Amino acid sequence: MTDHPVARLSQLIETIDKPVLCIIGVGLIGGFISSFIGCSDLVDLHLIGRQNLRNRLERYECLKAENIDGTTRSLKNSDFTLHSSLTEMIQIKRIKPQFIIMCLKRTAADEIYQEIKKLELKSCTIVLMMNGIFTVTEAKKILTNHKILAAMCPFNVIDDQATGVYKQSSKGNIIIEQDEQSEILSNIMNNSGVPTLLSTQIEKVQNGKMLFNLNNAICALSGVPLSKELSQYGYRRLLSHCMSETLSVYYARGMEAAPVFKLPNHLVPWALCAPDWIFSYIAAGMAGPTEKATSSMYEDVSNNRLTEIEYLQGAVLKLANGLDPKIDTPVIQAVYDKIKQVESNKCGIVKHTPEMIYQFK
Ligand SMILES: *[C@@H]1O[C@H](CO)[C@@H](O)[C@H](O)[C@H]1NC(C)=O
Repeated sequence: MTDHPVARLSQLIETIDKPVLCIIGVGLIGGFISSFIGCSDLVDLHLIGRQNLRNRLERYECLKAENIDGTTRSLKNSDFTLHSSLTEMIQIKRIKPQFIIMCLKRTAADEIYQEIKKLELKSCTIVLMMNGIFTVTEAKKILTNHKILAAMCPFNVIDDQATGVYKQSSKGNIIIEQDEQSEILSNIMNNSGVPTLLSTQIEKVQNGKMLFNLNNAICALSGVPLSKELSQYGYRRLLSHCMSETLSVYYARGMEAAPVFKLPNHLVPWALCAPDWIFSYIAAGMAGPTEKATSSMYEDVSNNRLTEIEYLQGAVLKLANGLDPKIDTPVIQAVYDKIKQVESNKCGIVKHTPEMIYQFK
C-alpha cells in the first residue's frame, strides 16, 4: 500500500464498494457539494430532497454548480439516487449510508434527528454542516449513541436562477471536525474539487463563523443584497456591535473563536466601523459576496418561512442570560426582536433603515 492519500483512496475504492454517501438538504450549500461529489464517481450518492429539488431537476435536467475558480459540474439524474425521506431510503430501499451530510436549516434538524433515532443508524457518521453554535451538543441530546461531527462552510453559494447553477460566490475551504471517518470524507471531497480541511478545534471554528452569521439577520432587515447592505456604514455599525457583544459573551463564558477570515476576530468590529470608502477598499480585497447574493435569512423572510434567529442572535441571548456580572447585549436584542416581529407578520421583506433597527445614543 502506498501512503499517498489519493492513491490510498483509489486503491480502497477498487477493492471495496464505493462508500455510500447521503446528503440531506439540497439547498445552496447542499446542492453545490452534491454536484461536485456526485460527479467525482468516488461515492454512491443518495440525495434526500423534497419538491423544490424535484422541480429543479425537472426544469434544468441536472444539478449544476460552479466553484470560485470557474470549474463547473453537471450532475445528471443517473449519477445519484433521489429519495423523499431517510426512512424511505433505509427501510424501503435498504440502503445503508456510511456518511450522512446534513446541510439543513437548524429549524429542520430536530425532525431528522428523531427519524435517525428510529432508524437506529448506528454505524453511520453524521456530519452537521449547519449554521450556529452547539450543533453537535444539540444533536447528541437525541442521538446519544451516534458518531456526529461538526463541519463549517465558510463560503457563500448563490442560486443563479437564469441558468440553474449553484455558484460559489466567496472563497474558503470547508472545515470538518478531525476524525478517522472525516479523513475519508475529506479525501473524497478534495478529490471531487471541494477542498476540505480537518480541525481538532471545530467548536472554535463554529464560534468564529457565528460572528459573521450575525449578519444574516441584518441583511434580512435591510431588505437589500449583502454587497449593498455592507456598503452602508449604518448596517456595518450594527453588525460591528452584534459582534462585539457576542465576543464579550464568549469571553465571559470562556468560549474561544477562531478567525474565519484573515483578520483577527477582535479587529473585525473595528474594520466594520471604517468609513464607506475605506471599507470598500478592504472588502474589495476579500472577494466578497457578488452583487445579487443575499443571506439565507433574507430568503427565509421573503418566503415567510421560520428563520434561524433562535440559533444566531437568539443563541447569544441565551448564553448572556444569567451571566454575573451582567453583559449588555442591546443591539443583539434589538435585531432579535425585529426579526421575531417580521417573522410573525409574515409580510415578506420589509426594508428597515439602520435607525429603525437600533438607535445609538
Ligand atoms: C485537502 O485539501 C486541502 C486544501 O488543498 C489540504 O490542505 C488538505 O491537506 C487535503 N486533505 C487531504 C485529506 O488530502
